[in-house]
Amino acid sequence: MKTGKTFYITTPLYYVNSSPHIGHSYTQIACDTVSRFMKKSGKGDVFFMTGTDEHGEKIEEATLAKGFKQGEEQRFVDGIVPVFKKLWESLGIGYSFFIRTTDDQHIRSVQAVLDKLHKDGAIYKKAYKGWFCTPCETFWSETQAPGGICPDCKRPVEKLDEENYFLKISEHQGWLIDHIKSHPSFVRPDFRRNEVLGFLNEPLLDLCISRPKSRMSWGIEMPFDRDFVTYVWFDALLNYISGAGYPHDMERFNGLWPCDVHVIGKDIIRHHAVYWPIILRALGLEPPKTIFAHGWWIVKGEKMSKSKGNIVDPFEIIAKYGVDAYRYFLLREVTFGMDGTFSEEAFVARYNADLANDLGNLLSRSLSMVEKYFEGKVPKGRVEPKFAAKLASLPDALEKAVPAFDFGTALSAVWEAIGMANKYIEDSKPWVLAKEGKKDELASVMLTLLEVLRSAAFSIYPFMPATAKNICAQLGIDVDLDAIGLRDLAGQPALKEGAAIRKASALFPRIENQP
Ligand code: ME8
Repeated sequence: MKTGKTFYITTPLYYVNSSPHIGHSYTQIACDTVSRFMKKSGKGDVFFMTGTDEHGEKIEEATLAKGFKQGEEQRFVDGIVPVFKKLWESLGIGYSFFIRTTDDQHIRSVQAVLDKLHKDGAIYKKAYKGWFCTPCETFWSETQAPGGICPDCKRPVEKLDEENYFLKISEHQGWLIDHIKSHPSFVRPDFRRNEVLGFLNEPLLDLCISRPKSRMSWGIEMPFDRDFVTYVWFDALLNYISGAGYPHDMERFNGLWPCDVHVIGKDIIRHHAVYWPIILRALGLEPPKTIFAHGWWIVKGEKMSKSKGNIVDPFEIIAKYGVDAYRYFLLREVTFGMDGTFSEEAFVARYNADLANDLGNLLSRSLSMVEKYFEGKVPKGRVEPKFAAKLASLPDALEKAVPAFDFGTALSAVWEAIGMANKYIEDSKPWVLAKEGKKDELASVMLTLLEVLRSAAFSIYPFMPATAKNICAQLGIDVDLDAIGLRDLAGQPALKEGAAIRKASALFPRIENQP
């Protein structure tokens, strides 16, 4: 049983056969947002782990394709990992630990696990005849891949006829089905749970967990048979416990396990919701609390692929439109869990509507008026009651939505307040109040607008940290947004009377040229 209160969240480990794309950055941004939010919620520490999956046939093939020789895989992956790290840094991803499956500590953990399972009699050796899909790094039985086509990616599979080690998993089917049914939050969203249960309607075949070195040698050596390396998925899944200290630092591990949430893409749900809990059970460990599978980003109706030349490069988008616009678009455009279409047209439309018009204009108009009517100082006034109530409701709305990965609902709640404020400017007509000399009324209108902006900045911080800091700086608020708690949002009013605002350039300049 978990002894500490640390919230433990993970991303998948990305294959380093090529550079990261929008799909990879999606999981990172979602996890970073939840992780920042949980840190603010005051419920304890957060451990956010990400990393890279560096072994297996796919990486071996990529190494050779890039002109490296067999045996130079480490040099090849060492060249790609920094590209991932650089993108995560550019996107402001504040992970706690970056694990590589080629780390010595991870290798030692995997070997310790294999030794234990072997000694416990959970692993056995037998001849294997069947299919293997290299792009998916997945074994398929002869009936699962009819016609030699991978049921997942629809590419041709390779015929294997080799001796291998297997983990006994068929005996675990019963309790796993019960666990999934009795723990509604184990597999999310709900429709994915049904998909996993559907898969479990068929008898489970024992899991092949090795490859003979004579066929594929880029992997972690099996500790009890040096002629074999570990199957890449078995190696990679174990990162979730090896990176948490299993078995070398059990005190740390016990404070982290069971993991609160593994965030993954929908294509790897079977590995996480079926094989992973079984591996854990064989080790005598609890399953993770939640596995959340998000959907896919599709481009022009098709899955992104190098051969189709439709890969969206996150570096290009953020260079053009900025990091926070990218983070916002990905989390706002599509309900987390569903597939979505990425197009630059949709990106620019949302950027102009939500960021340049709604949020950006509210800030620049409000600050201009405070400059004009109150010499750039926060006036003494009263926050309009309907706004006070709306702003006070934001922490609860966020607390309900963000940990549930319901980013759209959380952002809508903030944008409702922004929309109300923009309408309030039109309705209250501050320029008329100024002309008529209604200074007190005007002061309250200004203070209301500034409070909406302050509250919006605090609320969007987990989603758009740099923008939140920028707004606070312009409002003249000296606050450490990394440290401030969620509940401080509700404090009304928090702006100090007489404090100087510092209007700067536009947050999100309007994009005039449509792509
Ligand atoms: O599967 N849209 O790694 P990976 C959204 N190494 N998500 C996408 C996507 C897209 N277009 N394309 C890929 C692996 N992804 C394994 C994981 S974990 C122990 C091992 C997501 O680099 C995909 O769904 O092929 C997956 O969750 C993640 O990117 C990593 O894919």
